[in-house]
Amino acid sequence: MGATTMDQKCLWAGLVVLLLLQGGCAYKLVCYFTNWSQERHEPGKFTPENIDPFLCSHLIYSFASISNNRVVIKDKNDMMLYQTINNLKTKNPKLKILLSIGGYLFGSKGFHPMVDSSSSRLEFINSVILFLKTHNFDGLDVSWIYPDQKDNTHFAMLIHELAEAFQKNLVKSTQESLLLTAGVSAGRQMIDNSYQIKRLAEELDFINLLSFDFHGSWEKPLVTGHNSPLRKGQLDRGTSSYYNVEYAVGYWIRKGMPAEKVVMGIPMYGRSFTLASAETAVGAPASGPGAAGPITASPGFLAYYEICQFLQGAKITRLQDQQVPYAVKGNQWVGYDDVESIETKVQFLKTLNLGGAVIWSIDMDDFTGKSCNQGPYPLVQAVKRNLGSL
Ligand SMILES: *[C@@H]1O[C@H](CO)[C@@H](O)[C@H](O)[C@H]1NC(C)=O
Repeated sequence: MGATTMDQKCLWAGLVVLLLLQGGCAYKLVCYFTNWSQERHEPGKFTPENIDPFLCSHLIYSFASISNNRVVIKDKNDMMLYQTINNLKTKNPKLKILLSIGGYLFGSKGFHPMVDSSSSRLEFINSVILFLKTHNFDGLDVSWIYPDQKDNTHFAMLIHELAEAFQKNLVKSTQESLLLTAGVSAGRQMIDNSYQIKRLAEELDFINLLSFDFHGSWEKPLVTGHNSPLRKGQLDRGTSSYYNVEYAVGYWIRKGMPAEKVVMGIPMYGRSFTLASAETAVGAPASGPGAAGPITASPGFLAYYEICQFLQGAKITRLQDQQVPYAVKGNQWVGYDDVESIETKVQFLKTLNLGGAVIWSIDMDDFTGKSCNQGPYPLVQAVKRNLGSL
């Protein structure tokens, strides 16, 4: 009798532990939002007040920068931003909000000379902790785009020293330690040369794998290709075989990053080309980037809300091998993601037990619902629906 009671107690304890673990095992939906999207004109103008506090499990503000070895936000509406962060977290206490440092424009040079000596790194890390605590952020995302081979050691040291310092510093509201993540490359050469993956695996809470920009109008010779194909294309040979999500995810894992720490990138934008001939397939000759979108105004690049407009009267083809769509209208070609390709991608990441999905970026989804007629946030909602519980 006594023994039975004991067993039952253990069983119950086991169940409670299981339930708690399941809570901890839910997939992450990490959403980057950019500070420059507030400057776009309607319907692209996006401010943090537009964010639904229950849409994502993690939000990442992009980007802060470094000045005199200190972290700084040069946002025009920074006071509003800090207020909004606190409001979002009051509405959803489980929501994590991180600050990302770096980005494409900041580049690799922005991290120098800060990373080059231990005293300047210490100065930086102290400023980060003070900043995160003052403004109620839950952690830091290091988006060094990208460390090259000679930065390999300094990148690892920076992460190591940040991780050590973060463990000693708890977030006031939750008493949890500050989160540390990194936005990392999906290029095989970079994965080989820039990252000490086994060390990073121990020190980062997770990586945001930037698994897009595999093809674009920078290619030589200039031919059409998809921004973020899930799988290798039939025509891919040699190094081209690496330019897809499946390969990049697999390679990070093979090199020692635990699957549950890999958060897979899904783009809310496409990359476009101007066709040079009547050929329209993948690998067709192009004469340059596609025409700039009316709102994002950048040649070769279209936000999802611009793609929806482009699709009217366009011919859509689904690539059976790469499992993503592209569309052609006149001499314009764009490879993009939609609800269907996102379903396939999320099923893929669940099969591999990855940590979740990271969205670049929520301000490029049709967040108003006005451009695509699929309701607000059709793509982020598709990711969320297919991930299941967050
Ligand atoms: C966004 O942040 C960058 C880097 O801190 C800054 O240079 C830029 O002016 C900011 N943009 C706006 C609109 O605040």
